Amino acid sequence: MRRKLAAGNWKMNGLGDALVELRTLADAPAPNETDILICPPATLLSRAADAVRHSAVALGGQDCHANGSGAHTGEISAEMLRDAGASAVILGHSERREDHDEHDEDVRAKARAAWAAGLTAIVCMGESLAQREADNTLDIIGGQLAGSIPDNATGENLVVAYEPIWAIGTGRVPTIAQIGEVHDFIRARLERRFGPGVGRSVRLLYGGSVKPENASEIFSVPNVDGALVGGASLKSADFRAIIDAL
Ligand code: G3P
Repeated sequence: MRRKLAAGNWKMNGLGDALVELRTLADAPAPNETDILICPPATLLSRAADAVRHSAVALGGQDCHANGSGAHTGEISAEMLRDAGASAVILGHSERREDHDEHDEDVRAKARAAWAAGLTAIVCMGESLAQREADNTLDIIGGQLAGSIPDNATGENLVVAYEPIWAIGTGRVPTIAQIGEVHDFIRARLERRFGPGVGRSVRLLYGGSVKPENASEIFSVPNVDGALVGGASLKSADFRAIIDAL
């Protein structure tokens, strides 16, 4: 039985006062069957760790370097994230793939680094609007899955997030059938590659304009085990409503 996961990606948002929202989230009673994860900017991670101590809220990073340490000015290693209080890290987000020219092999190397540091890798993938309109979605997802995820995946060290690029921050959400098709496809590919035990235990998140208003419908789709939420994770009330819809 896979536990539900509500993950918030704050992206490049949040100064010290954002911790008020985090404390509000951490102070409210959490449903037993749902894991809650917030990925704040790295500058807030240590303070966020204080804010969520003794609560059900876990923390994650938004990216990490593929190396453990060294001369990489401005970069953050997986071990540093772990040291600052993270238990997971988002990798291969489309904003990283687009803005920083990250490719599947980079994501794969980062996932290896995350695992070496004891972090769960939340590996993101998704098609562009042009790719969807050209009916290439499953090919794109299949390629990203094969290329971005190293061998030795388990249900504990890997989470896959399907985030269609055209749905991120746009208010545009795929149909339930479209989400279901991609999630079923990812599940089948994971089972084929890693075996049914691991394949069925990896959690699959949907991401892209998840809001309190559409969360229940999205979560009703088989093989959707939770959400990776951007904008709506910045307000604890909205994020709480999404958690409650799971
Ligand atoms: O990683 C989450 C994200 O890309 C979705 O963002 O703002 O559409 O929920 P948003």
